[in-house]
Amino acid sequence: MFILGIETTCDETGVALIQTQEKKIRILKNELASQYKIHRSYGGVVPILAAREHKKNLPILLKNIKKNFDLRKIDYLAFSVGPGLLPALVSGKEFVQNLAKKLNKLIIPVDHLSAHWYSVLIKNKEGWQKIKEIEFPVLVLIVSGGHTNLYLFKSWKERRKLGETLDDAAGEVLDKCARALGLPYPGGPEIEKKAKRAKNFFSLPKPILERGYQFSFAGLKTAFIDLLTEIKKYNKLDEQTIADLSGSLQKTIFEILIYKLKKAKENFKTKGIIISGGVSANKTLRKMVKKYFPKEKIYFPEVKLSTDNGLNIAFAGYLLLKDGLKPLPPEKIDVYPRS
Ligand code: KG4
Ligand code: ZN
Repeated sequence: MFILGIETTCDETGVALIQTQEKKIRILKNELASQYKIHRSYGGVVPILAAREHKKNLPILLKNIKKNFDLRKIDYLAFSVGPGLLPALVSGKEFVQNLAKKLNKLIIPVDHLSAHWYSVLIKNKEGWQKIKEIEFPVLVLIVSGGHTNLYLFKSWKERRKLGETLDDAAGEVLDKCARALGLPYPGGPEIEKKAKRAKNFFSLPKPILERGYQFSFAGLKTAFIDLLTEIKKYNKLDEQTIADLSGSLQKTIFEILIYKLKKAKENFKTKGIIISGGVSANKTLRKMVKKYFPKEKIYFPEVKLSTDNGLNIAFAGYLLLKDGLKPLPPEKIDVYPRS
């Protein structure tokens, strides 16, 4: 079966084409248009600009796919209906509805978070590949610009949300603190780069560490910005201080994530941990988690699949369909900004 996946929840426009056969998948195209250069001058994503860019980029990406493929062969369209930025989602929705009408196809509504957790099952390579199978139960941690959610999965369908952030998401804090440091958007990868040269670590707070599986990062963000303001009062912000602050910030965030995972590991008998979403691209996080849980099966997506893309949507669409999700006619498709 051929599935065309479309991603427009935030600032990445993604269109991908996959072919599937029972437990196998072949990636035919994974087209991505990143908008970070446009949002950079504003220090973060501007929803209305994201919508405008999706509208502009979607036909261009689709044209690249059409070059070597007759779109009429597609069986389904898969579209990420949320959670995400409303104007961005609406822009994608209009495009996918028109395309589905033109091709006379149904649309698989894909939850963006599910695309993140399923992404650990595939490799970003050419040719046919077997879809990885995992043993349940597992803990699933989604860490992105919009979410910090921890779940217990008994199977792909049977899951329980253990906790989520009460305020900012982990990626959002990295982005906002990077901005305060004068680093460009998106901040996560910039903080990761600077942190490589960190020598001294500042002590930063870990709010509500003992309160179950909920997260809270807003207090940490404020403490970081206060610390930065204090430093700037007395010194020029030099490269080493930026490195030290970056290292301290990501280490503190990652220690919080690991602490909650450790608590959940103590309370539930699980056979592995899935960590996905944009922040999971971070190599230090990957190292810290592996070091902390040496005997545990840890599933990360390939770095390129950690952040948003159309392939994750097409693939999640396939698995959801296999699991019984009903594809919808274009006029029945609705988007939701929040989970
Ligand atoms: O999953 P994603 O692409 O979009 C959302 O669903 O939000 O995640 C984007 C987030 C941004 O906050 C970005 O700064 C962060 O992921 N991110 C990283 C890295 N790459 C992206 N954070 C830390 N280290 C990275 N290497
Ligand atoms: Zn995402």
